[in-house]
Amino acid sequence: MLARLAGDVSANAIQDPLPADCLIRAATIKDAAGMADVWRCRHSGPRLDAVVGIAAEINRAARGEGRLVLVAVLGGRVVGYGRARLWSSEEVVGYRNCPAGWWLSGGLVLPELRRQGIGRALMRQRLNRLATTVHSKVDVDNLASRGCHRVCGFVEQTRDFQSPGVRSPDTPMVLLQWRT
Ligand SMILES: CC(C)(COP(=O)(O)OP(=O)(O)OC[C@H]1O[C@@H](n2cnc3c(N)ncnc32)[C@H](O)[C@@H]1OP(=O)(O)O)[C@@H](O)C(=O)NCCC(=O)NCCS
Repeated sequence: MLARLAGDVSANAIQDPLPADCLIRAATIKDAAGMADVWRCRHSGPRLDAVVGIAAEINRAARGEGRLVLVAVLGGRVVGYGRARLWSSEEVVGYRNCPAGWWLSGGLVLPELRRQGIGRALMRQRLNRLATTVHSKVDVDNLASRGCHRVCGFVEQTRDFQSPGVRSPDTPMVLLQWRT
């Protein structure tokens, strides 16, 4: 496999090898359908609903409303994405040990393209762009995601926390933190 460096990185960013012709960039509204197709490799639900929800998130990111959405594109096709969102102090009130600020809010790579550095590049580029303390939560048994966070420099904070947007409150999760 040919290696190239992640596209669209700042000059002092750590650069990761990626599959040839794979680029990481900010999502545009034209990526919403492709992102929904990636989303459906892990989630169930109507594709149209996913497209609408993703398009809304991309628009919020474009307006600077506390969202960040990056895509990995290979051969013109969206093959992965990474998202982040900003939780305000008001939004985390009542959640135990839940810091306000930027949180990663989902990264996904097509199964057939995993273990080639795409997930790591999507994560590192989100961190490079945010350039501040970032939190993330991961299912305890999601070893792939925990490994990806670890190689990007996240460290475990606690498993005793609550946060908004958790699908199943009974799933044990780890709160992770990355600092500049
Ligand atoms: C997590 C995910 C995005 C990683 O994407 P990826 O492109 O395969 O990751 P990378 O190839 O960049 O791997 C980066 C590091 O993560 C770790 N990792 C990735 N997959 C792993 C696995 N299956 N088991 C253990 N560690 C793994 C490794 O440390 C790896 O570095 P290495 O290859 O040098 O050993 C991908 O597995 C995925 O889409 N999973 C399903 C969705 C998900 O769980 N998202 C996270 C929600 S919090």
